[in-house]
Amino acid sequence: MNASPSPLEPVDSFDYVIFGATGDLTMRKLLPALYRRFAEGQIPSDSRIIGTARSPLDDDAYRERARKALNDHVPADERIDATVNRFLRLVHYVSLNGAEATGPWDDLKSLLDAHADAERIRVFYLATAPALYGDIARNIAEKGLRTEQSRIVLEKPIGTDLDTARQVNEGVGRYFPESSIFRIDHYLGKEAVQNIIALRFANPMLERMWDRESIEYVQITAAETVGLEGRGGYYDGSGALRDMIQNHLLQVLTVVAMERPSSLDADALRDEKVRVLKSLKPLDRDNLSAHVARGQYVQGTADGQRVPAYREELPDEAPSKTETFVALKAEIDNPRWRGVPFYLRSGKRMPEKLTEVVVQFRAGEPGLFGEARPGSRLVIRVQPDESVTLPLFVKHPGNSFGLDEVDALSRLGVPERVRYRDSYEGLLLDAVKGSPALFVRKDETEAAWRWVTPILEGWRENEQGPDPYEAGTWGPESARELLDRAGHRWVEDAVA
Ligand code: BG6
Repeated sequence: MNASPSPLEPVDSFDYVIFGATGDLTMRKLLPALYRRFAEGQIPSDSRIIGTARSPLDDDAYRERARKALNDHVPADERIDATVNRFLRLVHYVSLNGAEATGPWDDLKSLLDAHADAERIRVFYLATAPALYGDIARNIAEKGLRTEQSRIVLEKPIGTDLDTARQVNEGVGRYFPESSIFRIDHYLGKEAVQNIIALRFANPMLERMWDRESIEYVQITAAETVGLEGRGGYYDGSGALRDMIQNHLLQVLTVVAMERPSSLDADALRDEKVRVLKSLKPLDRDNLSAHVARGQYVQGTADGQRVPAYREELPDEAPSKTETFVALKAEIDNPRWRGVPFYLRSGKRMPEKLTEVVVQFRAGEPGLFGEARPGSRLVIRVQPDESVTLPLFVKHPGNSFGLDEVDALSRLGVPERVRYRDSYEGLLLDAVKGSPALFVRKDETEAAWRWVTPILEGWRENEQGPDPYEAGTWGPESARELLDRAGHRWVEDAVA
């Protein structure tokens, strides 16, 4: 598995061509991530970052936008004027609609060909609407831009259901072999998600206890305080299930639940992850209400401010059945996990920004210390801070056998010396290096959609729509009921 090397070793020089270069993702994530790696010396200064989009801009105008993106999204203490200026010299722009065959493709080609080195790495990063990916891939190929050393990176969402995901995969697969297609899921770039693999397989004690005999249930939560953030156009056609569960949370689930891979090679790892997805018990209209809760926020308080309802944030304030919250109970039908619920939950306008995995171990027998001892709870915090905690009971100092609970494990790494890198940084450079371990393979995306699509279909047939929840709360009552039925609690409701 290819986590960020430390210290960072320079990669080979490359050309990074970004389609969708004026969009939010490029400005908020891609340019800041590339800047930070440049500042750390990982990106050779003869590399180039070539933005393409429809807006009629020249290099200088685009560089000014890039400068603003760095000002807005890179902390001041990481921005050094001279370094920013050197970085901006790498940046170029070609005004082009990547989905159309007409247009100044020759300009892009001559810019790329200006470097005669046939071995030079080219990365084409597609950050546009996914429906355009096939057309862009075709144009890249037909305009003669694809070389032996080319890779294509696809941002999520890959489609909106199984059929459209297949169309995207086939569309791009016609022009690029699977080995050069890098489907990005930025949750796999998160240090604490990668660390789950180390925790599980580098600690024999945990490895032996990682199954239905010892574990009662698992909760995976990705909660956000933000609402629509002006992304109504995209989000209202998507919803939390497509936006977060199909990709990010199912990816985390695969890492938590997979069997020990034969090695840390990309395909060994991904073979195991895909097996988990294929073992998920199907959910469909007949068992949906017992397994899935969905919600949409109404007015409430988030981050200390009164905030409007979801539908008031939509451009036309039209009624909408889009879910801004999903909680579901997934089950993995294999010998290791049969009968162990995996509760997944994600929502906008929750009380806090929090991503974590909670592994609840089974309770002990009553006996020596009175009542049954509660099971230990291993908490893997992914954000806002990265940590692992596993409270253990120890004897309270003194004559009697009273018990104290102490944290046995704590933060990851050495916090004062480690800057936890943004998840995009390592992934963008992994694409340059041609290391696919932390990218999603075609069969993984499709297996995830195969499981998620019947839920979407079940919802479509159901008139009722999502349950309302007040902004700033942990979602609708139906999410609590989902666990109540099994005698379980969400971690914030559980009595320690
Ligand atoms: C994106 C979703 O993929 O992930 C957003 O489209 C969401 O809606 C974001 O806000 C969350 O990412 P993170 O890294 O902040 O948890």
